[in-house]
Amino acid sequence: MPFQRLRGFQDVIGDEARAFAHAESVARRVFWRFGFEEMRTPLLEEEGVFKRALGEDTDVVQKEMYAFKDRGGTPVALRPEGTAGVVRAYLENNFHKTKEVAKIFYLGAMFRGERPQAGRLRQFHQIGAETLGTASPYADAETVHALAVFLEELGVSGYTVKLNNLGDPEERKDYRIALTAYYNPLKARLCEDCRRRLETNVLRLLDCKEAPCRALREKAPLLDAHLGQESRAHFEMAKKALDAAGVSYAVDAHLVRGLDYYTRTVFEVTHPGLGAQDALAAGGRYDRLVESFGGPAAGAVGFAIGVERLLSLCPPAQDSKGKGGACVFIVTLGAEAQARGFSLLSELRHRHGVAAEMDLSPKSLKSQMRSADKSGARFSIILGEDELKKGILVVKDMTTGKQEEFSFEGAAAALASRTRA
Ligand code: HAM
Repeated sequence: MPFQRLRGFQDVIGDEARAFAHAESVARRVFWRFGFEEMRTPLLEEEGVFKRALGEDTDVVQKEMYAFKDRGGTPVALRPEGTAGVVRAYLENNFHKTKEVAKIFYLGAMFRGERPQAGRLRQFHQIGAETLGTASPYADAETVHALAVFLEELGVSGYTVKLNNLGDPEERKDYRIALTAYYNPLKARLCEDCRRRLETNVLRLLDCKEAPCRALREKAPLLDAHLGQESRAHFEMAKKALDAAGVSYAVDAHLVRGLDYYTRTVFEVTHPGLGAQDALAAGGRYDRLVESFGGPAAGAVGFAIGVERLLSLCPPAQDSKGKGGACVFIVTLGAEAQARGFSLLSELRHRHGVAAEMDLSPKSLKSQMRSADKSGARFSIILGEDELKKGILVVKDMTTGKQEEFSFEGAAAALASRTRA
């Protein structure tokens, strides 16, 4: 075969596609209940949208973005995440003028040229929600609560919500200096990535999974000592609001994020069932991003969940077998019966909303019965010369083996009522 899919890209097929659709419909139901409206932003944006939002020195922008010049020579990039495009669209559609608070959710493909491994893809999907136009800590709690309810309705449990307070950029400036002073003499003991991060993004050193870097982190100064009164009060309120919503969490003073736009509350949802890539969802507050896109000072908070990681944790849907398949399978013998069967098939699908199937090319009775079995259909109909002569259809309930006869005229309606029963 001359072509294969690219590494880190997946075909989503059958049960998996059904599970995707299920997660998306649960997301719509839950997020609408929490007052979020759906937004679909383009997959391709000007490269600057992401560079500005995520930060030039982040791994995503430096190493992972699918960035290229389009046919007109404009630098563009496939979206590596959803927040930047939502902020661009929020401003472009004047939501900052027309809505006091904009609550937006999205679902779709994201692209990052990372090294593929279990749980890490180059095209993956996110379901995310963003609240723009409020600095209220209740919005932080509402966001995490919506995520927790979404997980609960999908039957996912056993996860941990980790929270931290990243403060404001001014507060982090001081902390960066302290952290750099701590790590500089230890440079030789850091991993290669962390040696680079020491120059570009020192906070990310706290996030490193390598054992030597983890050990050095133990004695590193904490951001908490550099936070001002307002940031602290905000975080305390957010935690209280989470308590009020009944969401459990653990504060993790070392939690930092890989994207630069965060301020104050950040969170990550991890699950032990995910293995090395244990981050199921993540997010936080990004109070300066709208302003950095030329908009007004507008508080904002949001999260995104990785759909592939989520689905790997979801219990298989109870009703998945036969759900997308046929409910009725029509078996025909001979050309005339096939024509008659096709007309019944069309009537069932069109007039009665019944999922029906038949073999469209002529096949033996045995092979058609095999297809009927495989389809998982609840009823099979046999239509041969005898039935044509008598003007009847024999309907067999595949689970009980019970057979019933119907006239041609009433068969479709009668079957439709039985499939609903
Ligand atoms: P993020 O932490 O980069 O945050 O991604 C969120 C989630 O997307 C991760 O927890 C993970 O489940 C999934 N994910 C990320 N990269 C991959 C990958 N290569 N393969 C599979 N799944 C992946 C954001 O994207 C922020 N925009 C979240 C946010 C929204 N913050 C505020 N609003």
